[in-house]
Amino acid sequence: MAVREVVHYGDPILRKVCKPVKDFKNLPPLIDDMFHTMYEESGIGLAANQIGVDLNLFIIDISDIEDEVESVHIFINGEILNSSGESWFEEGCLSIPEVRLEVKRPEFIQFKYQDESGNEHIEEMSGLLARAIQHEIDHLKGVFITDRVTKTVKMTVEKDLKMIAEGAATRAKTRKAFIL
Ligand code: CO
Repeated sequence: MAVREVVHYGDPILRKVCKPVKDFKNLPPLIDDMFHTMYEESGIGLAANQIGVDLNLFIIDISDIEDEVESVHIFINGEILNSSGESWFEEGCLSIPEVRLEVKRPEFIQFKYQDESGNEHIEEMSGLLARAIQHEIDHLKGVFITDRVTKTVKMTVEKDLKMIAEGAATRAKTRKAFIL
């Protein structure tokens, strides 16, 4: 169990399409670390590549915000099959600290995923859960909230993005130095 470093905007791992999970046996320690990290950073969702792991896996916990029966979610090899409707919501991202952007997304989704045991599920989701899922699915495809807004809106946060990316590049170099 450990809190891991959250990778920031500008780090190449966040622009990759993540590999599907094939081996479910070794997931529990990784999922454990992801929850520790997400709670430490006060996030409501976290994708595996946000802690530098190239796997199609993300977690969500919106229990503080919405009274759900099932509040803690683990989604593996997720895929949005259908979506409809439209809503606007201000989103933040643990990989882009301090930046908030109004993002338009479908309101309803039909979502296919596997659980920790590899069992497949197809569910209909809406509201905050549907939104959080779409945000994390974007991460696993290398997409940021900054890609979901117009150029004009993106320009308003360009300075912050540049600073975050410079920090991410420095941290990526330091990490490599440790591996050597
Ligand atoms: Co994010």
